Amino acid sequence: MSLTPPGYQTVQTEDGSVTFFSERFGEACHSPAGAKAETVLHYIEGCKIPEKALEKNVSILEVGFGLGMGMLTTWERTKSLPAAIHFVSVEIDPELVKWFYEEHKNHPALNDPKFSFEILTGDARVTLPAYVKQYHPKWNAIYQDAFSPGRNPVLWTVEWFTLLRESSADDVVLSTYSASSSIRKSLVEAGWKLYPGEKFGQKRSSTRAKLTGMTDPEILLNLERSPIKALTDEPTP
Ligand SMILES: C[S@@+](CC[C@H](N)C(=O)[O-])C[C@H]1O[C@@H](n2cnc3c(N)ncnc32)[C@H](O)[C@@H]1O
Repeated sequence: MSLTPPGYQTVQTEDGSVTFFSERFGEACHSPAGAKAETVLHYIEGCKIPEKALEKNVSILEVGFGLGMGMLTTWERTKSLPAAIHFVSVEIDPELVKWFYEEHKNHPALNDPKFSFEILTGDARVTLPAYVKQYHPKWNAIYQDAFSPGRNPVLWTVEWFTLLRESSADDVVLSTYSASSSIRKSLVEAGWKLYPGEKFGQKRSSTRAKLTGMTDPEILLNLERSPIKALTDEPTP
């Protein structure tokens, strides 16, 4: 890998893949247990991308482009399948986007007619509503991969998850590494049904969300018992 973008440090993870540590957010983009393995488990498998791509074209939203690991791994895992993939990602830091295009300018994913992708550069709370208004997307999968709710709360709010629900297809699967009660409450208040996700690295659980079925009874019970509140755009008094 060539130069690291300004404001980041390269971190080697346990599966041999690398990630970036962001000085601005004080956090790495992936688990130290494996950037690539986490991407495959939580996003590609968590959102059932190969299964969906065997049946029909797939429209994917990624929340947080980072190094482009989610995008490149999605291409890798779907390139031999019949479906066309449309991949949209959001990224607040233009330096990461610039770095990605320099680093991967000859990557086959950028020249695959079956794989279209766009990065909405800027604050997703501005860029995504504008995109939704103009293009009326219907996401079949959402990789909710912002930094942690403590460091990056604006992308875990009831308002954010409402926007995601309103722009999703009925068969959508939203998947995230987080299992915190605050984000689970945000999702429930925004109308999502929750299911337990896989454990990975140090984290004991994660979250999958759909628009169909019923929230897992154990998750619901834990949320009812928890005094933690959903995250919202309202300023706390
Ligand atoms: C955990 S990293 C994403 C890693 C990425 N999915 C990958 O596979 O490489 C989170 C990303 O969200 C971006 N981000 C944080 N706040 C944002 C916002 N308000 N709008 C858009 N992107 C944001 C960060 O700059 C960071 O690149």
